[in-house]
Amino acid sequence: MRFVFLEASLETIPPEIADHEVVRRDAKRRGKRPEEILLDDSKHHRAMEGLENREKRGRPDIVHQCLLALLDSSLEDFEVYVHTVAGKVIRVNRKTRLPRNYNRFVGLMEDLFRKGKISAGGDVLLEIVDVGIDELISRNAVVMHEGYDVRPLLEAAGSEGLVVCIGAFPHGDFDDELWRIFEEKGVRFAGFGDRPRTSLYVTYKTVCILEGFS
Ligand SMILES: C[S@@+](CC[C@H](N)C(=O)[O-])C[C@H]1O[C@@H](n2cnc3c(N)ncnc32)[C@H](O)[C@@H]1O
Repeated sequence: MRFVFLEASLETIPPEIADHEVVRRDAKRRGKRPEEILLDDSKHHRAMEGLENREKRGRPDIVHQCLLALLDSSLEDFEVYVHTVAGKVIRVNRKTRLPRNYNRFVGLMEDLFRKGKISAGGDVLLEIVDVGIDELISRNAVVMHEGYDVRPLLEAAGSEGLVVCIGAFPHGDFDDELWRIFEEKGVRFAGFGDRPRTSLYVTYKTVCILEGFS
C-alpha cells in the first residue's frame, strides 16, 4: 500500500519573494539564507501577496500533521510519498521518527531541501526522489475527495498495490495536471460526504478504516 500526499504546501522561499523585507528579516533571525527557509504563511503573509497559486502555498503544518497521523498508525508495510505544490516528490521512510514539534519539523525539511536526503543509522529517512507523480499514481489508486462516499475505499482496502491519495494544501482543488493523470489512470474517488474536510481529518479517518482491514 502507498500513501501519496498531493500538492503538499511545503516548499522553500521562492526566488521572486526572497528579497522581501519580511522574508529577509525572518531568515536573518534564524541565521539562514532566505532561499533556505520554508515558506510559511503565518510569517511571510505580506510577502506572499501576488505569489502565483498563493492560496495553495505556505502551509507546511498541514503535511506535518498528516504525516504524524499516518506514521503513528498501526498499519504495516506501506510506502509514503509527499508530492509538493512545486512538483517535487519526497519519499518518507515509514520508520522515520518525525519531530512532533512544528519548529523542529521545519528545520528538518529545510535540511532535506538543502541536502536532498536525510539519513540516520545507515537508513535513508527522507529523500527527494526523481520520480514523476504519474509514476506514483497507479490504476489501483483511490483519491480522497469531497462529494463521494466511502464505498470505493472500503472495496479497495486490502487490495494489492493500493495507492491512497490525499490533498495536503489549504484551499482549492487539485490542479489540472493531476486531474489529467487521474483520468488517464482511471482512478477511483472516495470520500466522507459533501462537506470539505481538513487533510488531517481525512488522513485519520482513512487510516482508521484501513487499519480495520490489516
Ligand atoms: C484541499 S485540502 C484542504 C485542507 C484544509 N484546508 C486543511 O487545513 O487541512 C483537503 C484534502 O482532503 C481531501 N478531502 C477534503 N474533503 C473531503 C471529504 N469530504 N471526503 C474525502 N476527502 C476529502 C481531499 O483530498 C482534499 O484535497
